[in-house]
Amino acid sequence: MNICVLGGSGFVGTELVRRLVFAGHWVRVPTRNLADADRLRVLDTAELRQANVHDPRVLSQLFADCDTVVNLIGILNERRRESFATVHAALAAKVMAAARGAGVRRVLHMSALGAAAGAPSSYLRSKAAAEAALRVAPAAGEAHPAVTIFRPSVIFGAQDSLTNRFAQLLRMSGGVLPLARATARFAPISVLDVAEAFVRALTRSGASAATYELCGPEVLTLEQIVRLTARVAHLPCHIVRLPDVLGRLQGIVMGLLPGTPFSLDNFRSLTLDSVCRESGCAALGIAPRPLLAELPLYLSPSAASLQPDLHLPE
Ligand SMILES: NC(=O)c1ccc[n+]([C@@H]2O[C@H](COP(=O)([O-])OP(=O)(O)OC[C@H]3O[C@@H](n4cnc5c(N)ncnc54)[C@H](OP(=O)(O)O)[C@@H]3O)[C@@H](O)[C@H]2O)c1
Repeated sequence: MNICVLGGSGFVGTELVRRLVFAGHWVRVPTRNLADADRLRVLDTAELRQANVHDPRVLSQLFADCDTVVNLIGILNERRRESFATVHAALAAKVMAAARGAGVRRVLHMSALGAAAGAPSSYLRSKAAAEAALRVAPAAGEAHPAVTIFRPSVIFGAQDSLTNRFAQLLRMSGGVLPLARATARFAPISVLDVAEAFVRALTRSGASAATYELCGPEVLTLEQIVRLTARVAHLPCHIVRLPDVLGRLQGIVMGLLPGTPFSLDNFRSLTLDSVCRESGCAALGIAPRPLLAELPLYLSPSAASLQPDLHLPE
């Protein structure tokens, strides 16, 4: 297949593009900055293109000759010129319009667990708005690609910004971590399983017009994830559980820091548990890897010398 992967240079995208290439597909990856996608250059059937995907004409050009479009583009926090409305909802509408125009047969879209119009955070509401934009009925006579939506819980892996971020914070703070919403529950899923879910959904008949919730096998609180990270990385760990009033304040203050390590909107997302109601992994025949078994493979001091970036799909 010819597949265009928007967001193919990111954490999930890099793993997915590798798998698609190894499975024999031809993959186009647009990026704002070619240097960011450098790791994909070695893949012989991946074509990197510098492109502004928010321009509908550019999208039409990118989708020409493509059977399938995958949209992984997402942000966790808004920046001055990057709003949730633009990057999630408006882009999804543009992707759908361009996919229809180009005769694309399948659109695979990355959403998030908890996406709902009435969700507590702007992030989750905008993810729901993106899903709704994909479901808008086509005009009479217009082609309508089958849409598959993925809603993962938090995703872990060698390049993640979850366990690596906590390890970095613990290192910097001498192990003392004031933690908001410490009891929020997650079912962390490996990036390898997320990528596998996309690949399987692509090739399975009957998987096209479906929504898959993606969760790992363990349900862990945020505090348990941090403690596990600390244990595996051999770091000291003294968690200070913040009551919500201080957690909100932490979000406001950290939201002003460069790189936005945490924000009020992130705090609001954490007021919902991120666990599955139904198992998309089971539906796709995937036995998801536990965080407990995977974390030492990339975060333990002895794993530091390994090159997780060179991981090959099974
Ligand atoms: N990671 C998680 O735990 C998690 C959990 C649930 C859902 N998700 C969703 O999964 C998707 C992938 O997540 P990820 O962790 O792989 O993210 P990531 O590593 O931050 O990658 C995001 C990708 O989106 C592109 N991008 C970001 N902002 C953009 C903008 N304003 N315009 C155009 N492109 C932009 C980037 O491309 P360039 O910089 O190359 O242009 C990059 O390839 C996102 O939709 C995210 O919301 C992630």
